[in-house]
Amino acid sequence: MTEVSVSENSDILKVGTKRFHAIWLRDNAQDATTRDAGNSQRLITLADLPADITISKAEVEGDTLMLTFAPENKAIPYSIRWLMANAYDVTHEGSLGHPPEHAEPWGSGLQEAVPSAPLDALKNYEATRLSWLDAVRRYGFAKVTDMQGTPEELFEIVAVFGFVRETNYGRHFEVRTEVNPVNLAYTGLGLQAHTDNPYRDPQPTLQVLACLENSAEGGENMVVDGFACALRLKEEDPEGFAALCQHSARFAYTGSEGVALHSRRPMIELSPEGTLQAIRFNARSIAPLTDVPFDAMEAYYRAYRRLSDIIDSPEMEVTFKLAPGEAFIVDNTRVLHARKGYSGEGTRWLQGCYADKDGLLSTLAALEATL
Ligand code: FE2
Repeated sequence: MTEVSVSENSDILKVGTKRFHAIWLRDNAQDATTRDAGNSQRLITLADLPADITISKAEVEGDTLMLTFAPENKAIPYSIRWLMANAYDVTHEGSLGHPPEHAEPWGSGLQEAVPSAPLDALKNYEATRLSWLDAVRRYGFAKVTDMQGTPEELFEIVAVFGFVRETNYGRHFEVRTEVNPVNLAYTGLGLQAHTDNPYRDPQPTLQVLACLENSAEGGENMVVDGFACALRLKEEDPEGFAALCQHSARFAYTGSEGVALHSRRPMIELSPEGTLQAIRFNARSIAPLTDVPFDAMEAYYRAYRRLSDIIDSPEMEVTFKLAPGEAFIVDNTRVLHARKGYSGEGTRWLQGCYADKDGLLSTLAALEATL
């Protein structure tokens, strides 16, 4: 039987080795007067609870703990199993810069095991959908294969987990190049690995790129795990890592009429607990850095340059050439994407769109709850 005790001044409950505050317990009650039985939304606000709340009685009956709160004199049942699953009296990872719970940092080793699924299986089989969505959460990147290679098919991928995020570029955008056939020396420029649209706030959290034509030589796609790069920077230069986290960068896009997008966000964003939240890295849309104090600018630029070098390191990248009918998705808050240079005769036609990660994670969590 679980040992339960109440502190001397009745404000803390101890269940086994875990402690709970009286106000936390009352605020998180799961009974029908506190939470709606149907949608589990809360029916009260904190103002409905007395500030000087204490526990006047604690009784165990099987897996149920019956707590009585004073001065309300209200008895509420708690599942001990629920309490243990939601205990906060645990050791929290508090280091400055650690990956989120489900994220697994990767480098070029992932090349041999790129997560991938055929579109039909994604649409029709929950188990395939679950493991593909889980891969996106784990690696921030996955491929889709066996599509028709027809326009707007990328919307079918998004429909598997959520909704398109429309921007001033439209519901989707075209990435299309005809390589000059009369001059074979012509080389399509490569693009350094980047996250898309850091000048938006919030930035688009997912990007899908689908290939319709790819007959030019080169033009491979490349992805890099921004979290793995940030962790490597932290290891090599903790002061520089802190500089990129603690000061806002500036990003801007004013490239078309009527559009003036500006953001003020760090290149490496941490949660208050020190968890890696987001990477923003885009050489083409960075704006003058005016939030870095004079005395910190040298360290900032040193770290920015080092992060850029790490991002460009071959051991961090996974490279693949998309065939028509193939697509990939990236978590745009974490994984950078790039295009290698291309040349020779041929056409390269990709379609891209943005979507939201909260929808993807919601679909995944709901699937996990049912399967
Ligand atoms: Fe891009």
